[in-house]
Amino acid sequence: MTQKMPKAIFVIFGATGDLANRKLYPSLYRLYRNKKLSEQFAVVGVARRPLTNDDFRNNIKKSIEEFKNDAIDHDEFASHFYYNPFDAQNLPEYKKLDDFINQLDQKHQTEGNRIFYMAMAPNFFGPIAANLKSEGLTNNPGFTRLIIEKPFGHNQATAEQLNEQIGQAFAEDQIYRIDHYLGKQMVQNIEIVRFANALFEPLWNNQYISNVQITSSEVLGVEERGKYYDANGALRDMVQNHMLQMVSLVAMEPPAKLNPDEVRYEKTKVLRSLRQMEPADVNKYFVRGQYDAGEIDGKPVDAYRDSSGVESNSNTETFVAAKLMIDNFRWAGVPFYIRTGKRMKKKSTEIVIQFKDLPINLYKEKGDTIDPNLLVIRIQPDEGITLHLNAKKTDYDTVSTPITMHYNKKDEGTEDLEAYEVLLNDCLNGDSTSFVHSDEVSLSWKFIDRITDVWEKEPADFPNYASGTNGPRAADELLEKDGFHWWNVQ
Ligand code: BG6
Repeated sequence: MTQKMPKAIFVIFGATGDLANRKLYPSLYRLYRNKKLSEQFAVVGVARRPLTNDDFRNNIKKSIEEFKNDAIDHDEFASHFYYNPFDAQNLPEYKKLDDFINQLDQKHQTEGNRIFYMAMAPNFFGPIAANLKSEGLTNNPGFTRLIIEKPFGHNQATAEQLNEQIGQAFAEDQIYRIDHYLGKQMVQNIEIVRFANALFEPLWNNQYISNVQITSSEVLGVEERGKYYDANGALRDMVQNHMLQMVSLVAMEPPAKLNPDEVRYEKTKVLRSLRQMEPADVNKYFVRGQYDAGEIDGKPVDAYRDSSGVESNSNTETFVAAKLMIDNFRWAGVPFYIRTGKRMKKKSTEIVIQFKDLPINLYKEKGDTIDPNLLVIRIQPDEGITLHLNAKKTDYDTVSTPITMHYNKKDEGTEDLEAYEVLLNDCLNGDSTSFVHSDEVSLSWKFIDRITDVWEKEPADFPNYASGTNGPRAADELLEKDGFHWWNVQ
């Protein structure tokens, strides 16, 4: 069956920004090259600075330079892009934009379909959405969708306010809130591993799993984003969204169907079952860190507090480790440890499911080395799955030894997919499964707010980990208290 290729006009607010140049244009190009985007498409780049179409198209071509050896004509691809200088606060400009989109719709035969993409400063998300509606840009014959970047609010109150604002202009099923982790191939694989294998699902509960560990470590520091980051920190930047989304996918019940509503319903149930922190428990369950100077790849690097845009006595965390409890039937008693930080030893995201030990292990009793069974989902940089088992050592005696079985995605020889290209493709096809529902946003902020409330009132003893390490010692102690340790598998 040949799939009908969607036709649409993308209107990108923040068209000259870093995200657009680094992620969105290359992703649109890849979709085009892979024939997921028909010839009937156009992109209107919207931003404040004055640029001509030619300048804009040159930027587009620069952003796809790495594909210069493709057979595709980059000038032809760039000819679908138009620039529209824009002041988001000036209402008459919306009408002009509408007329322009209508002309392009005729020219490119896009059947009145529009995707608005908000890739600019978050304080504009709500007002622009409202103006798009009031000025008639959402009244078009085809579909209208809105993609919103993070951060989606700063806490529960502001996130709900934003939901309400955009909810006046767009229905929930027209809103696509981005969490780019949901577009990563191995994050999408969590559901398949769980729900398409008879092997795991029967064991996926507190009878057989002793703990779950989710790590997302980065080597980079805050780089050019000091100002944004210092007002947010790792809890808001990584935990509220990416980390809790991964927890939800690992912990959710099998959905009744694989459609957006059913999947989101199950994910929301996990967030509702998360044990809410009492103020006195926050520092028992959560560890925060901030990087100091140190060494990465043999080169000295500076401390977080010395980065541009960061306060010299900043109390902002660049590292979080936590023990989350999901108080439901399936997970009661199973800790979900999460850990994320900047300037750590290596760039790696992985999920480790640690199975319980056997009630009696004959080989352990006889003194052999026995490790617990682990299922490791390697999300990045190396994508794959590893199963840790125990098997016979090649020896005259019967001796058990830990072994691993690997699935490496790169062995398939298929092209890697960028999270953004996957998500843009989903949005074009009207599939919102891998986007975040307003209820998820609200519940995850509710959980996070209880931690930030405590941390913002109590200055931490920062910095407390050297760049290039695995974070503060307290993050290891968090597991040691329970008799576990972090598995650094990748
Ligand atoms: C972003 C955060 O959402 O995710 C960044 O704002 C972080 O601070 C990035 O570096 C990590 O994404 P990835 O895909 O590199 O793991």
